[in-house]
Amino acid sequence: MTDRYARLIEQVLDDPGTVLLLGSMDSGKTTFARALLAGAVDRGIPAAYLDTDVGRTTVGPPTTIGLKHVLEAKHLEDDELALADGLYFVGWVSAQFHLLPLIAGTAKLMDVARRAGAELIVVDTSSLISGVYGQILKYHKMEVSRPEYVIGFERGEELEPLLGIARRFTPARVEAYPVHPEARPTTADERSETRRARFASYFSGNLHRWRVKPTVFLPSLPPDADLASLAGLLVGMEDGKGSCVGIGYLELAEDGHLRMISAVSEGARALRLGSTRITPDWTSTTRVDLRHLFGTE
Ligand SMILES: Nc1ncnc2c1ncn2[C@@H]1O[C@H](COP(=O)(O)OP(=O)(O)OP(=O)(O)O)[C@@H](O)[C@H]1O
Ligand SMILES: [Mg+2]
Repeated sequence: MTDRYARLIEQVLDDPGTVLLLGSMDSGKTTFARALLAGAVDRGIPAAYLDTDVGRTTVGPPTTIGLKHVLEAKHLEDDELALADGLYFVGWVSAQFHLLPLIAGTAKLMDVARRAGAELIVVDTSSLISGVYGQILKYHKMEVSRPEYVIGFERGEELEPLLGIARRFTPARVEAYPVHPEARPTTADERSETRRARFASYFSGNLHRWRVKPTVFLPSLPPDADLASLAGLLVGMEDGKGSCVGIGYLELAEDGHLRMISAVSEGARALRLGSTRITPDWTSTTRVDLRHLFGTE
């Protein structure tokens, strides 16, 4: 981190609160988040990382928002950071079309972080910053996270519409920084390979298979649902007490029943259907519109 970024980090740590990071693809949000959290660990400030990027995820598998309590340096190591302390299933690998679960999940996990006593909460976001969708999404993220700081990393003045919203509508201290000169662009191939590896690693190890009753889903299946059409869909596993315990995927067993496969061994009482159909090698994710799948609107 250069002096300028280092100074900003020191200023935030002098008066910690919730920090919302904004920026387009590869603008350095996650790098900054980790540096800020490392600073909090050094100073003994209880911190949390709320990763609301569902595509290029740092905490938890793709398709989820992940919360990590950061109290020790080891919590920031890659493998450890990937293990979420709190999860929310959004159901797709980008924010588009999934604003509702993104906002609900951000609000829910912010609450978990605050209750756990985090004094610094760093909210990392997706790179959807432009257009009406970008503005609506980021405005509502600010509404539910109520940040003390909104920090943007921009090329040119690309963030001005969003930073303007933060200045006009929120009491946050708003800071704009140019993208760090060493920030490196990633290619589409690198991104899809990273995502494949994240899914593969989440579903590695001991996998469990359950027979699934057709009545456990949200949204509920129509009575005449073709169970075969659900094969490959990702689901969020809910514990029935308000928490997501992990994600799984569906397959059709030879006897015609549905099965769910997951690395999580217990705790699921109900399943949320997502819009992601995966292939067993994790190389392909296709978006499924449940309204079309169920023949309803
Ligand atoms: N301050 C910095 N110093 C050196 N390298 C950096 C810095 N900021 C970012 N980078 C590099 O640039 C790349 C993109 O950074 P990063 O992943 O933090 O961006 P991001 O905004 O989180 O991207 P995305 O929108 O894809 O999540 C990474 O390879 C990272 O190592
Ligand atoms: Mg990132």
